[in-house]
Amino acid sequence: MLDIKIEKTKNPKAKPTGPLGFGKIFTDHMFIMNYTEGKGWHDARIIPFGNLEFSPASMVFHYGQEMFEGLKAYRGDDGNTYLFRPDMNAKRTNATNDRLCIPNLPEEDFVQAVKAIVKTDEDWVPTEKGTSLYVRPFIIATDDFLGVAPSKTYLFIIILSPSGAYYASGLEPVDIWIEDDYVRAVKGGMGFAKTGGNYAASLAAQVKAHDAGYSQVLWLDGVERKYIEEVGAMNIFFKIDGEIVTPMLNGSILPGITRDSVLTLCRDWGYKVSERKISVDELIEAQKSGKLEEVFGTGTAAVISPVGKLRYKDDVMTIGDGSIGEVSQRLYDTVTGIQTGKLEDKFNWRQTVK
Ligand code: PLP
Ligand code: COI
Repeated sequence: MLDIKIEKTKNPKAKPTGPLGFGKIFTDHMFIMNYTEGKGWHDARIIPFGNLEFSPASMVFHYGQEMFEGLKAYRGDDGNTYLFRPDMNAKRTNATNDRLCIPNLPEEDFVQAVKAIVKTDEDWVPTEKGTSLYVRPFIIATDDFLGVAPSKTYLFIIILSPSGAYYASGLEPVDIWIEDDYVRAVKGGMGFAKTGGNYAASLAAQVKAHDAGYSQVLWLDGVERKYIEEVGAMNIFFKIDGEIVTPMLNGSILPGITRDSVLTLCRDWGYKVSERKISVDELIEAQKSGKLEEVFGTGTAAVISPVGKLRYKDDVMTIGDGSIGEVSQRLYDTVTGIQTGKLEDKFNWRQTVK
């Protein structure tokens, strides 16, 4: 159990009134905890949200030793605030930490810290349909040192951002660019970890895709550029001839919590579900023969995002009739229904913030 000191702000900000967008507005408080070698994690505190001061020699600025997570707090119709599977974010935090040589954080401390900061700023959880309070825990290396080595000190910080849909299009299908030149990650690298470097590596292709009118990049494997991996901020699913298919976890893609939840739901509903290799050729073939029935992305920020078009080299594949598919809609309704307390929580995924 962490002993969390709380210092409340004397200048609470006005709550946002217009559309929230994603990740642009921050609440009144933040959680901070230090790590020092030999002492462990210490000085857990909640303080007013504000700038922090760092030495320009801080290691995170030079070699990117950092990790982050993303989850959401939802306002239920019953007035409760809910989290969705925060224990999974805690587990993934340590999987990332292991890869980045960042010290582990006890899972129960992670969940306690998330609940404490969300409780402190509970009046910032937005209430409109499709909105939530995005929770961004992250750890940065803070030694002042220019040598390449794991830092001996760190900060674990959690900030909160009331948010709407991740894509400006909301539940409207997004158009996706299959990247055949740049790659995001390879097995043995950091692809499975949630660390800034993976996202820095993705920017050049994302800019290229945006310039061509596409909102996200779908990555291919880094070795053969042949097999589907994942999208910039979500995992990807296909419904091919009745079967729900997603790339298997292979070390280079992020093991998404929404991905895991969608697999569980689809299996529970009796669909044939496979986690396997899917080549881009298989997709093109399936689309040409009318068997590519649905494509959707899954992620905390993106929830369930139907894909309207996929572009690969000169091929532009329109998925179904370009509108949201039946399974995507059912998953969206079920996942958001569980998250907001409207639907039965058969798998015990929901936690109440008390
Ligand atoms: N893949 C990437 C690269 C992501 O950034 C995310 C978002 O967190 C996901 C997949 C989906 O993961 P999750 O469902 O845990 O949010
Ligand atoms: C999330 O879905 O939580 C993410 O972290 C995606 C993010 C890169 C915006």
